[in-house]
Amino acid sequence: MLSVAARAGPFAPFVSAAAHAVPGPLRPLAPAAAHRDRKVPLDLKRPLLCRESLSGRAARGGLVASASLNAPAGVRCVHNDVAVPDFSAYRRQDVQDASASSQGSSDSRKGFSYLMTAATGVATAYVAKNVVTQFISSLSASADVLALSKIEIKLSDIPEGKNMAFKWRGKPLFVRHRTQAEISQEAGVDVSQLRDPQHDLDRVKKPEWVILVGVCTHLGCVPIANAGDFGGYYCPCHGSHYDASGRIRKGPAPLNLEVPFYQFIGDDTVVVG
Ligand code: FES
Repeated sequence: MLSVAARAGPFAPFVSAAAHAVPGPLRPLAPAAAHRDRKVPLDLKRPLLCRESLSGRAARGGLVASASLNAPAGVRCVHNDVAVPDFSAYRRQDVQDASASSQGSSDSRKGFSYLMTAATGVATAYVAKNVVTQFISSLSASADVLALSKIEIKLSDIPEGKNMAFKWRGKPLFVRHRTQAEISQEAGVDVSQLRDPQHDLDRVKKPEWVILVGVCTHLGCVPIANAGDFGGYYCPCHGSHYDASGRIRKGPAPLNLEVPFYQFIGDDTVVVG
């Protein structure tokens, strides 16, 4: 049997031909007869561990073309018998004819491309808007926290001339039902004489109701209602006097008592926060 090994290009100097005894379909390989009287020296050298020895191939393996009388041909050079699939079902009707110019269908194909681009853009914008909205809303306060941030007060429970204190966002909240005399007195105060000038009507939504955060603007004590030189609030910590509108009139406090955000819900209810 004759085998021919051929290499191409830079491996040309290594082209070699070798004869191998291999079984074929017509002639099986006959085992060699053992000669008992001949001593065959054993090669005790350990074989070189390399790609060829591990895979059992010749030392000059690689691209090999072999031919023999009874060996099947093993090299395939071309693949021109593969059937090309028919993609006609996926192609547009006006470009089915490969010999026709594509200029005629240019407008309709452009229109289709623009339509797809616009639809994809709208869908992408919609998804992006939803993702951003979800992300932003996940950062805002939850419903239970928002519920704690508001307080609803029934005004008919507060008699005229009295001040009631509530707890709101961890701070005291004063709701004062003023008498007509207090309203007239605070409205007549000369604003220019005040340390923190503010007219009484700028601090109330309804003149008979004054709603204040009950924290002294000096160092944060809780003032006492219906006390002090001006009949409003008095902070005993360092002696700050506020009037019935919550404005600082005497003592170390630099600012008026804070007016929180509130809304009247009907005639009898106010929601603070
Ligand atoms: S904390 Fe109110 S006067 Fe100092």
